[in-house]
Amino acid sequence: MHLQCLMINLSLLLLLLLPLPFLLSADSPVNACRSFCGNLTIDYPFSTRRGCGHSAFRDLLFCIEETLMLHIPSGSYRVLDIDYPYQSLTLHDPSMSTCDSLVRDGKANGFVVERWRSHFLHPAPDNVFMLIGCKPNSPLFQGFPSKNIPCLRNASVGGGVGCEDYYACPAWEFGPGGGGAAAAPECCAVGFEAVRMINLSRLECEGYSSAYSLAPVKVSSPHEWLYGIRVDYSVPGGYEFCRACEATGGACGHDDSVGVGEGDGGGGGGDICFCQGWNSTSNCDAVDSSGAVRRISSMNAIFTRFLVGVFIMPIISLGGAMS
Ligand SMILES: *[C@@H]1O[C@H](CO)[C@@H](O)[C@H](O)[C@H]1NC(C)=O
Ligand SMILES: *[C@@H]1O[C@H](CO)[C@@H](O)[C@H](O)[C@H]1NC(C)=O
Ligand SMILES: *[C@@H]1O[C@H](CO)[C@@H](O)[C@H](O)[C@H]1NC(C)=O
Ligand SMILES: *[C@@H]1O[C@H](CO)[C@@H](O)[C@H](O)[C@H]1NC(C)=O
Repeated sequence: MHLQCLMINLSLLLLLLLPLPFLLSADSPVNACRSFCGNLTIDYPFSTRRGCGHSAFRDLLFCIEETLMLHIPSGSYRVLDIDYPYQSLTLHDPSMSTCDSLVRDGKANGFVVERWRSHFLHPAPDNVFMLIGCKPNSPLFQGFPSKNIPCLRNASVGGGVGCEDYYACPAWEFGPGGGGAAAAPECCAVGFEAVRMINLSRLECEGYSSAYSLAPVKVSSPHEWLYGIRVDYSVPGGYEFCRACEATGGACGHDDSVGVGEGDGGGGGGDICFCQGWNSTSNCDAVDSSGAVRRISSMNAIFTRFLVGVFIMPIISLGGAMS
């Protein structure tokens, strides 16, 4: 009889504990839009989940076997880093030339972003593109009597990143300044604003390199430059909507039933705050305008069934067996 009393008390205790997960999930909800890929955290305004993040960055990032990839019209790039405070991404293009190798098959990605997205995603001002082996009749040089004018021979952009120094790289061993200068392709450094798109076939170039320098002081050696594409982003409309949404326990997303680039601001659908069991166009403390009833989230329902199945049922049947 003593044991049976203990069992009943235990069952009561569990029943009392049952509401706990509901309270916990209301206090510290899991952000359904945050995700992880390799060692990168994917957070607003980005997302790898449909409907999550800001619409300006929809259909942009994909997590493929723990590697975060960015897809734009010019190709796919591995995302090496997302710097949220500085609002920039660092991309890697495997077909780009570096200090150690020149790739001159004309097949490298370059950098071309959708026109509607280009307002919110563009190479950083201190990122320098060094175009290699561009033909004399390249659109780069059209209208310039001397073909070097648009090229920053000694670019001061990006703290000294430019062709003059790039020629000192091992990749240029037989290039200008090296052995067989005559046969070598020339380098033409440009900031992205000067050309608006790095399309090697349109610019009639054999290859390109892209480098940036994060150092506050000028980094003189091209060995110290960081090779990759540093891309700045901005959130149309700012962060206010998402801050308010997350502060009330929601996750920030957008209406993805609206086609890409159709909506105002170029992004597409409007902002949506995903609350527990309902969607809000402002935040989770707002009155639900659609009149939808707040539902217990399916996560809680599953958890309840788990608790009942694993703990309560055996105890009840055990209690029954004892009497
Ligand atoms: C993430 O992992 C890569 C290697 O996969 C490493 O190079 C990089 O430094 C790591 N980044 C962070 C922030 O840990
Ligand atoms: C690059 O330019 C070529 C030739 O002008 C064009 O066919 C191609 O669509 C362009 N690529 C991108 C990504 O814009
Ligand atoms: C480029 O700058 C370096 C110093 O940073 C200087 O030695 C060199 O003469 C400059 N070249 C040209 C063409 O101005
Ligand atoms: C909330 O919005 C998402 C994406 O638009 C949709 O899949 C989901 O069914 C909506 N939920 C509710 C409760 O309306």
